[in-house]
Amino acid sequence: MIKQLVMATNNANKLREAREILSPLGIEVLSQREAGANCDPEENGATFAENALIKARAVYEAVKLPTVADDSGLCVAALDGRPGVYSARYAPEGQHCAKLLDEMKDVPTDKRGAAFVCSIAFIDENGENYGVSGRCSGSIGYEQRGTNGFGYDPVFMVGEKSMAELTADEKNAISHRGAALRELYKYLKERYGE
Ligand code: IMP
Repeated sequence: MIKQLVMATNNANKLREAREILSPLGIEVLSQREAGANCDPEENGATFAENALIKARAVYEAVKLPTVADDSGLCVAALDGRPGVYSARYAPEGQHCAKLLDEMKDVPTDKRGAAFVCSIAFIDENGENYGVSGRCSGSIGYEQRGTNGFGYDPVFMVGEKSMAELTADEKNAISHRGAALRELYKYLKERYGE
């Protein structure tokens, strides 16, 4: 059994989600700062999975503890999957939703499908890696709605509500990151569980 793993992020939301979902395993989840890793590698992979592995590998090499990293983004069908791995860099801070609504302004309702995607890379105590992923399907709305969450949540519709109108628990239950973390939980439980 491993006692600790490092989450290759300092993002408080991601840490909280990982701690909530993985806590039944009895593994302590440390942030990269708590583990003493100070790295911010260039995320130049072509896929979410490659970028997750780049982040996990950088932290693992710094601390030599089992490490988990995630990479995620929004894929919009009408934009041929963009912004995809460029989701964070798509627009200046605070302007992502407005830019996306503008790009989508002439797209009809039945062509506004989109999905949040999350890949997670796990590097074990021997330096071997294992990957899982999760997905959340929805559509792009016509205006920003709600104040919860972050990033594209105000324009990502799941049924009648935007992701930013859901509580944190409601979002975790359906989100791409929640789905990927639950896959990781299953893998770790099978491998390390009593
Ligand atoms: P990263 O995985 O931290 O590199 O995030 C990639 C980008 O995708 C973020 O900056 C957000 O713009 C977007 N993104 C990822 N997950 C979510 C989410 O759950 N809600 C809204 N936007 C997200």
